[in-house]
Amino acid sequence: MSKNVYLPYAATSEKAHIKSMVQYRKMHNKSLESTEQFWSEIASQFHWETPYDINNFYSYNFDVTKGPVQVKWMEGATTNVCYNLLDKNVRNGMGDKVAFYWEGNDPEDYSKITYKKLLEEVCRFSNVLKSKGVVKGDRVAIYMPMVFEIVIAMLSCARIGAVHSIVFAGFSSDSLAERMADCKCKVLVTADSVYRGDKLLNIKSLCDIAMDKAKNFGHEVSTCIVVRHLPRLYRSMNTSNGTNGSNSDIIDLHSDVPILNITLNDNLTFSVPWTDGRDYWWHDEMDDVEPSCYPVWVSAEDPLFMLYTSGSTGKPKGVLHTTGGYLLYAATTFKYVFDYHPGDIYWCTADIGWITGHSYVVYGPLANGATSVIFEGTPFYPDNGRYWSVIEKYKVTQFYTAPTAIRALMKFGEEPVKKHNVDSLKVLGSVGEPINPEAWLWYYQNIGKERCSIADTFWQTETGGHVITPLPGCTPMKPGSASFPFFGVKPILLDESGKEIEGVGEGYLVFNKPWPGIMRTLFGNHERFQSVYFSKFPGYYCTGDGARRDEDGYFWVTGRVDDMLNVSGHLMSTAEVESVLTEHPDVSEAAVVSRPHPIKGECLYCFVTPNHGVTFTPKLSSELVKKVRESIGPFAMPDVIQHAPGLPKTRSGKIMRRVLRKVAVNDREVGDISTLADEHIVEELFKNRPEKS
Ligand code: PRX
Repeated sequence: MSKNVYLPYAATSEKAHIKSMVQYRKMHNKSLESTEQFWSEIASQFHWETPYDINNFYSYNFDVTKGPVQVKWMEGATTNVCYNLLDKNVRNGMGDKVAFYWEGNDPEDYSKITYKKLLEEVCRFSNVLKSKGVVKGDRVAIYMPMVFEIVIAMLSCARIGAVHSIVFAGFSSDSLAERMADCKCKVLVTADSVYRGDKLLNIKSLCDIAMDKAKNFGHEVSTCIVVRHLPRLYRSMNTSNGTNGSNSDIIDLHSDVPILNITLNDNLTFSVPWTDGRDYWWHDEMDDVEPSCYPVWVSAEDPLFMLYTSGSTGKPKGVLHTTGGYLLYAATTFKYVFDYHPGDIYWCTADIGWITGHSYVVYGPLANGATSVIFEGTPFYPDNGRYWSVIEKYKVTQFYTAPTAIRALMKFGEEPVKKHNVDSLKVLGSVGEPINPEAWLWYYQNIGKERCSIADTFWQTETGGHVITPLPGCTPMKPGSASFPFFGVKPILLDESGKEIEGVGEGYLVFNKPWPGIMRTLFGNHERFQSVYFSKFPGYYCTGDGARRDEDGYFWVTGRVDDMLNVSGHLMSTAEVESVLTEHPDVSEAAVVSRPHPIKGECLYCFVTPNHGVTFTPKLSSELVKKVRESIGPFAMPDVIQHAPGLPKTRSGKIMRRVLRKVAVNDREVGDISTLADEHIVEELFKNRPEKS
C-alpha cells in the first residue's frame, strides 16, 4: 500500500455495516457474480404489488452494433416508490418519526415534518395534481426553493405515476423555458419567492417569463401551482424568536396570512404576478382535497423522473430514470456509503434540483426511513460558521457536501468551526468534482477531527447513484481518490483504441454492465442516448471522464475527457456558453475553456472575437458576462472575457483548445502548433491577456 493512506477509525469500523475490505470484496464479488441474488435480496425489503421474477431479473444490451441499447430490471413487477418511502415506513411504526428537519435561510426559521404528516401532505398534493388533469406518464416541472413542498411535489408525482422534471431554481428563465418545452410538462410547480443570503429572489416572475418563452418553443403550460413561501420568511423576519408559527413542530402549510404587496422593509415591496385560470396557490388547492390517495402501481421500468444535464452540443439532455432499479440503488448506496443506522441524523447540502438532491436528500434517505436536514440557506449566511452551527443544532452524524464549499470555507480558517460542537459527526461525504488533497485533509482534520471517514463519491446524473466510493469504516482512504467500485459496478479503463487496460494505467472510464440505478434513455431521444454514451466504444457505457488505477487498485478520477466544464460542481458545456456569447450582436466568434480556480475548481475563461469594425471594450466584456449569467444562470458566470483578434484554428477550421487553455494560465509551453493556419495568433493572444487574470 502506498503512502498517505488514512485508515478508518476503529470505533466506526466496529459498528459499520461493512467492517473490512475482506467483507467488501466478498460482497462486491457476489454482486457481480450472482447479480440476481444480490439485488433480489435487497428488493425483497420493499413492497411489490406484482412480484418480480428472479429468473428474469434483469437484461441489457450495451452494444449498439447488436441492436438498440437497453437496460431493464425487474420488468413485469409493479410497485410505487412513494408507497415504499412513506406508507411502508408509517405502517412499520415510524409515523411519528421526523422525516425532515427544515432549516430556513434565516436561523430563526426552522421546522420539521414527520413521516405521517409527509404522507398526508403528499396524498393531498397527489389529489391536487389529479384535479388538474395530471395522469400517469405526464410530466410535471418543478422549480422551487429548498422547502418541504418540493419533496411533497416530487413524491406526489411518484404516487400517481407522473414524471417529475425538476429544474434547479438557479437556472435562468431561458433554461427553464427550454426544459419545460422539451419535456412538454402539463404543470409547473413553483413558489412565490426565496431568500438567498440577503437577496430576495422573485421566482414566480421568472416562471411567468419562462412560461411565455416556452410558447415560442410551441409549448403552453396549462397550470402553475405556487407555494406561498414569502409570508413564512416575512414572519420570521418580524419576530425576534420565530415563535409566530415559523418554527412550530409541523410547519403550518395552510395558514392564512396575507399574500400580496407585503411590505418587507421601508422601501421594498413584493407582489406576485398572477394569471387567472392558469395560476393557483398551493394552499388554496390543498384545502379543497382529501388527505388520502391510493397509489398508482406502476411497472418497475416505468419512468420515475427525468433530470436535465448539460450536453456537449449545448442542448441539455433529459436523463430518464425508472422506478424499480433506481429505488434499489438509491436505497442501497445511501445505506452503505453513509453507513446509515437508525437514530442517525443525516444532512446533504445539495439542492434538490441536482441529482445529488434527488438521490441523497429525498429518495435514498426516505427509502431507509432516515431523518435528514433540508437546508434552504447558504454556507455564508448569517456568517461563515452556518454549516457548523447547523451540524451542532441537529447533531448531524453524516454530512455530505461539495469540494467547492469546503474550499470556500477553508479560507476562513478553523475559528468558525471551533465555535461549534461538531463531535456528532461520523461520516463526511464529498461529491461533484475531484477533491484536492489539501481540501480533503482540511475536511478530515478540522471537521472530522481525524475520526470520521471521508466518502469521496464519484458518480453522475446518468449513474443515478454512487458508482466509485470508499465505504466508511471499511476502506483505507487516499485523499483525492474515489477508491473502489460500489456493489454491482465494475469500472473499466480503455485506451484510445478501445483496448481494456489491465492493472496500473490511465484511460477512459467506462462500464460494460449495468447496475440497477443507471439511466435508461434520454427523454424523447433514444438515438442521442446511444450516440452520446455508447457509440465511442461499442459495448461500453462511456462516462466522459478519465481515470487512473494505481498500484493498489484505487481509482483516481482525472476529469472530463470531452468539452465539458465543472464549475463549483456544476457541469456545463463549452458549446452552451459559446452559443450565448455569439448571440451578442457585436460578437463574431467565441471559444470557452476551463481554467483552474482555487475555490470553484474550474472557471470559465472566454475568448471573444468582435465583429469587424467593433472595438472590444470593458462595456462589451461586462455585457457578455451579464448575458451568460442571464441566459444560463448565475453559476455559469465567466471569470474572464478576453479579446481575441482571431482564434487558433487548424487548416481544417478546428479550434485548438489546448492552446487556449495554455493562454488562460499564461503557460508558454504550448507544444506543437505547426498545424495552425496562422501561428502568429498565439503570440497575439498571450499579449492580449487581461492584467492580473
Ligand atoms: O466529471 C465527473 C464529476 O461530475 C460529473 C457528473 O456531474 P453531474 O452529472 O452534474 O453529477 C454531479 C453529482 C453526482 C462527473 O462526470 N464528478 C462528480 N463526482 C466526482 C467527480 N469527479 C471526481 N470525483 C468525484 N467524486
